[in-house]
Amino acid sequence: MSEKIKFTIDGKQCLAKKGQNVLDAALENGVYIPFLCHVKGVKQAGSCRICNVKVAGRTMTACTTPVAPGMEVENDIPELHDLRLAIIEALFVEGNHFCPSCEKSGNCELQALAYRYQMMVPRFPYSFPQKEIDASNSKILIDRNRCVLCKRCIRSFQDDQGRNLFAFKSRGHKVEINIDKECAVNLSDELAQEIMDVCPVGALIRKEKGFNEPIGTRKYDKKPIGSEITSVV
Ligand code: FES
Repeated sequence: MSEKIKFTIDGKQCLAKKGQNVLDAALENGVYIPFLCHVKGVKQAGSCRICNVKVAGRTMTACTTPVAPGMEVENDIPELHDLRLAIIEALFVEGNHFCPSCEKSGNCELQALAYRYQMMVPRFPYSFPQKEIDASNSKILIDRNRCVLCKRCIRSFQDDQGRNLFAFKSRGHKVEINIDKECAVNLSDELAQEIMDVCPVGALIRKEKGFNEPIGTRKYDKKPIGSEITSVV
């Protein structure tokens, strides 16, 4: 049996497997660290930075930081609460997120985080970028207005030959998600559903299924995100 590593989060004694990152270990120990770009079992990107924690006074992303013996992690502190809220606000103003008209409302992790962190008016000005919608694929609609560039889709889906179904195009503020038209020409309904489920927001929507689940009965309509782990922010 492999040795477990002892560490603490906000003083709580926790155990991690060798090589495990702080985020996965925290969730297994019943401690909620918020995250957006992380997908369990998929290579980490460290791109959203919502999972920021403090270790030895330094701010670092929990999803890319391996647990070390005796590590003391700070998570539930006002400084990190405000930092996470600022990141959530920035994601809202950088895109065009109109929750009432979004098919992912109630199942959207960004929206759920905004509720959990009690976002009111963002501290940053809205940028209202011009974004194109791509409806060329027969099964998946790409609405770049809602994309938060988390790379979940890029990291999660490859075809039989290992080619990515999704990739970024352009650079800097022009970067945007694209579907490989050749690889994704014959998506099954199951894969289209998986793609929609992996996207944390409403950027990748399975065609003809968007509003299948009534508003009010969706995942975060009744319970805040992370409440299956702990009810404390
Ligand atoms: Fe760790 Fe996004 S979840 S950086």
